[in-house]
Amino acid sequence: MTINTKKWLLKKRPEGLVKNTDFQLVDEALPELKEGEILIQNEYLSVDPTQRMWLNDAPGYLPPIQIDEVIRSGGMGRVIESKNENFQVGVLVNGFVNWQTHFVTDGKGFSVIPEMLPIPTMLNVLGLTGITAYFGLLDIGNPKEGDTVLVSGASGATGSVVAQIAKIKGCNVIGIAGGEEKCSWLADCGIDHVIDYKNSNPRSELQKIATSGIDIYFDNIGGPLLETVLNMINLNARIVICGAISNYISEDMPVGPRNLTNLIIQRARMEGFLVLDYLNRQDEAIQDLSKWLMEGKIKHQEDIQEGIENCPETLNRLFTGKNIGKQILKI
Ligand SMILES: NC(=O)c1ccc[n+]([C@@H]2O[C@H](COP(=O)([O-])OP(=O)(O)OC[C@H]3O[C@@H](n4cnc5c(N)ncnc54)[C@H](OP(=O)(O)O)[C@@H]3O)[C@@H](O)[C@H]2O)c1
Repeated sequence: MTINTKKWLLKKRPEGLVKNTDFQLVDEALPELKEGEILIQNEYLSVDPTQRMWLNDAPGYLPPIQIDEVIRSGGMGRVIESKNENFQVGVLVNGFVNWQTHFVTDGKGFSVIPEMLPIPTMLNVLGLTGITAYFGLLDIGNPKEGDTVLVSGASGATGSVVAQIAKIKGCNVIGIAGGEEKCSWLADCGIDHVIDYKNSNPRSELQKIATSGIDIYFDNIGGPLLETVLNMINLNARIVICGAISNYISEDMPVGPRNLTNLIIQRARMEGFLVLDYLNRQDEAIQDLSKWLMEGKIKHQEDIQEGIENCPETLNRLFTGKNIGKQILKI
């Protein structure tokens, strides 16, 4: 049986938000399976800010996607044909499934996932998003009961899990997010203070709320807020650099904080991390996150768009702030 795939190839390096014309959606027949291969039908794509960086011709933690290559994307798909004894027909697999409907692989780099929960939840709290939040906060941030934890991008996929783990650990949590709907969801999640940066001045709001200073800043967005926070850190504060989405589509080099000497004065630490370095410990995270999910201690939302033709537009939602919760695309 011949199966056709639809897949998005990179045709031009985007500037700013992506346009459909930066890509080409091609429709082509897949080859017959060889011994050791499997055919996967994609079900859900994880849509992540880092994908926009992979489209640039710049060095990163993974190589840039080349012109005429399929767009790299995490996600989950189902094995629909198999000539590989490690993958039975019908199992769900996780890995770089990319912007395509179907593909043939030898299975390397893919793991079979037990279907305990709906796939969007597994891609969110129990996927790389939740694992990022878990190790970023617990390993790098090292929260202590009573700490004041500030989270930027707090209503997003990563930020909302970080903020709720910080609550579980007994911290006083301040979340910053854009717009009333996102802020009221964070309040429903039990976050102590929420700042709507689109309708107020985050600097003056922070000064009113964080009167005893900030112990942990979990930064998802980058940009000028860091300078404000550096002026408010406590002794031995930890600044966790998780992401800098406000810089990913800008052509200009961001202005750096002018007050890094506060790290010296407060004997504070600022550290970046990559979730990929924690994959050998992911079971640890999944065990705790599953327990907290079952206990109702972590609330979550998935924003599910639909259709392979909507990949570029769905990626843009992260940069226009349209997504509420984890951005996912159902194929
Ligand atoms: N270090 C790692 O291993 C790792 C792993 C995963 C993700 N990350 C990083 O974590 C961050 C969050 O990723 P995510 O997947 O959870 O996405 P997300 O937070 O669910 O979605 C992105 C959100 O960022 C906010 N945003 C977009 N442009 C902004 C701007 N110019 N200024 C302020 N906020 C802006 C928007 O929320 P508002 O509407 O509130 O503005 C948007 O909804 C990203 O920086 C990502 O690169 C890092």
